[in-house]
Amino acid sequence: ASTLGASAAEKGRYFGTAVAANHLGESPYVSTLNTEFNSVTPENEMKWDALEKSRNSFSYGPADQIVSHAQSRNMKVRGHTLVWHSQLPSWVGSLNATELRSAMNNHITQVMQHYRGKIHSWDVVNEAFQDGSSGARRSSPFQDKLGNGFIEEAFRTARAADPAAKLCYNDYNTDGQNAKSNAVYNMVKDFKQRGVPIDCVGFQSHFNSASPVPGDYQANLKRFADLGVDVQITELDIEGSGSSQADSYSRAVNACLAVTRCTGITVWGITDKYSWRASGTPLLFDGNYNKKPAYHSVLAALGGS
Ligand code: G3I
Repeated sequence: ASTLGASAAEKGRYFGTAVAANHLGESPYVSTLNTEFNSVTPENEMKWDALEKSRNSFSYGPADQIVSHAQSRNMKVRGHTLVWHSQLPSWVGSLNATELRSAMNNHITQVMQHYRGKIHSWDVVNEAFQDGSSGARRSSPFQDKLGNGFIEEAFRTARAADPAAKLCYNDYNTDGQNAKSNAVYNMVKDFKQRGVPIDCVGFQSHFNSASPVPGDYQANLKRFADLGVDVQITELDIEGSGSSQADSYSRAVNACLAVTRCTGITVWGITDKYSWRASGTPLLFDGNYNKKPAYHSVLAALGGS
């Protein structure tokens, strides 16, 4: 096939991108989105500060805009993200443990019921582990007040709110085998053993020269898949340019394709001009929506041309 989405579909996968609602009025942005991608992740619009800025008052405007666009074009939607320490309104941090537990469960339930049937996978919990060698949980209002059990509780609440959605744990610096990914692995293994509902693990995959595509990326995806969960590449972007960037991208795509349970790849934006890496060029289309060498290498890796 001649596009990323259609080529991925021929391999039984989706190929998605992060989307920002405020760019949906820009015609080359929308035409590139519509032509190339068959899944979207709202880049910021489904985060807690966007959906529930004050307690129990929900506003879905920009997130709904993305979901409607996706539905009208038959694209899948990844929900990002229900429980995360960042982009969290300050009121959440000032609750006591009892209030926080109820606010967390209410947030998950309200948001997932609003989108029930429209989201194929939800990042239920995002970035709950620390970087470095400790394998410990990251400090957050959830961790600090509710303890380790908050992740399990979030997943159980999520399953009840939308039983058809795949429930994912999502993190970064877990792409290769290291202390952080080992800690996530042990959590997922424990969840599967105890019947805690988890369906998928997201590997953000933000790569640069200090943190390149790991040599054991495929092996790491595979060991998680072997626990009985799907794996997804959820926020792929790779700093660089030209053929070295293109090579890195094809290695990343090939790693997913080599793992049966790697169900899809999402890049973290369409064009370099709107990347969260302000000064970088980590995406597949340049600032003028021209296809970069990285685009062509991804398309080729997916079997397209
Ligand atoms: O909404 C305000 C807007 O009103 C204001 O005019 C503008 C001025 O700076 O800021 C806007 O908020 C920004 C928001 O993006 C929306 O554009 C925030 O400052 C900015 O911090 C925020 O950045 C996002 C970042 O998450 C925040 O943590 C990036 O767009 C988004 O790409 C990034 O995505 C994260 C994933 O969710 C989780 N994994 C890592 C990834 C990259 O950091």
